[in-house]
Amino acid sequence: MSQRTVEVVPSADALAGRAAELFVSLAQDAISRRGRFTVALSGGSTPEKMYKLLAEPERSARIDWSRCHLFFGDERHVPADDPRSNQGMARRALLDHIPVPPANVYPVPFSHPTAAEEAAAYETRMAPLLADFDLLLLGLGDDGHTLSLFPGKPALDATTLVTWSPPGVLPPPVDRITLTFHAANLSRHAVFLVSGAAKAATLARVLADDADPRLLPAAGIRPENGTVTWLVDSAAAGMLST
Ligand code: 6PG
Repeated sequence: MSQRTVEVVPSADALAGRAAELFVSLAQDAISRRGRFTVALSGGSTPEKMYKLLAEPERSARIDWSRCHLFFGDERHVPADDPRSNQGMARRALLDHIPVPPANVYPVPFSHPTAAEEAAAYETRMAPLLADFDLLLLGLGDDGHTLSLFPGKPALDATTLVTWSPPGVLPPPVDRITLTFHAANLSRHAVFLVSGAAKAATLARVLADDADPRLLPAAGIRPENGTVTWLVDSAAAGMLST
């Protein structure tokens, strides 16, 4: 059963700072224990601030990036230079500013005509890393989705490690490639970053004991042999019972 922690910080900036420091400590621990640190990066807007803080020289220097392997928890089926690309955001905010070897970054390549084919190719490429990965960074959509696991969509039932999904109700309206619950729950540490009052009602529902992962997929993130940490700012925590 996953160990769950909810940590409330005062602001979005404090959230980004706390998340960046947690990333550093998890990286240092993984590298000292196992010689490498493997991370599924999240898309969306919330992690961008954290990525920029990680790229700051004094913090970046605390990580041996040559030992890090960075891939993506989900991706939109668009070219990397498309403004909706998660890879594009991660490159602008972090990857282009740290000395991670290019061979250690595993984007979802826009190299197949359909998201289904893209997902199958990504699974083949990532299966070895997914079998033993350290950190899964996650966001929370207002509809309770995480990764690109949207309420009621077939991707929730996938038995593979990577699958595809048609768009959910939230933008952008493009097909997605996403880790499945099966893959997500292989992580050692799943860390959600949730910011803003708009997420407060959904967060309270997701954290409730009776949350249904089919309606609130974020509730289905329960690493079999890992931890779930919810880093939330006060605005997002506004409806949590104390
Ligand atoms: C994506 C993300 C998605 C995101 C949530 C929250 O590709 O959009 O993986 O799951 O984390 O939609 O997004 P925000 O952080 O922008 O609110």
